[in-house]
Amino acid sequence: MDELRRQNYLRMMGVTQWRLRQTGSDDEIPQPVVEAEADVTLAEQPAPVGDAVPPTESVNLAEDRSDWLTLRQQVKACRQCGLRAGCSQTVFGVGDEQADLLVIGEAPGADEDRQGEPFVGRAGQLLNGMLLAMGFKREAVFIANIVKCRPPDNRDPAAEEAMACQDYLLAQIALIQPKLILSVGRISAQNLLQTDIAVGKLRGRVHTFGETNIPLVVTYHPAYLLRSPEQKSKAWQDLQLALSVLGPVRRDQGRD
Ligand code: URA
Repeated sequence: MDELRRQNYLRMMGVTQWRLRQTGSDDEIPQPVVEAEADVTLAEQPAPVGDAVPPTESVNLAEDRSDWLTLRQQVKACRQCGLRAGCSQTVFGVGDEQADLLVIGEAPGADEDRQGEPFVGRAGQLLNGMLLAMGFKREAVFIANIVKCRPPDNRDPAAEEAMACQDYLLAQIALIQPKLILSVGRISAQNLLQTDIAVGKLRGRVHTFGETNIPLVVTYHPAYLLRSPEQKSKAWQDLQLALSVLGPVRRDQGRD
């Protein structure tokens, strides 16, 4: 990702600082320095200070289609971790690039790897049903994952793999500027909130994403709900919470 664009995204998100790696080599590339001490989990997080720019005041990158194109090409060409070697294709994400609601899952599975689209298997069908229950058509939201490549044998993505993919997700969030992030499942929630707290304890309240003002609601992963249907009522409470935060938004498509 070129440096100017990277800095732009990061300034908008305010979640990561960058510095040059001290390798002394000519091909140094900027590496993320995650603010380990920052507790990014709580809704009562103070508003960003200093040069962190809240999304609403930022440059309207979402109008620049070339940024999406570049990002798609970068994801497609990415070899930053070992996952790409073992999967058929990258799964960028799908939906309305100006969606009010951004759903973030874990990683592509076998069906997604085959079709190049997130949440197209059984879990995806349930996710579509959850979205419809909220009044959203699938096409009206944007659906992405923490990592863009299928981990072998459907294992959890490793922390380094999530980190290698982080810039792409941050760029997607910066471009979409959603009104709400719905984080589905443990891997998604723990990565987005930089915590190891269980989903059961993260759900049921409104977080904010990083140092942005973007509200984030955690719920169970649809694959888990397929295995544990008795938890669906709690998931529905989470979706209602998300709806109450979203307020009256268009649900047939994103913002005008
Ligand atoms: N599970 C996920 O978390 N993401 C997908 O894309 C499919 C299944």
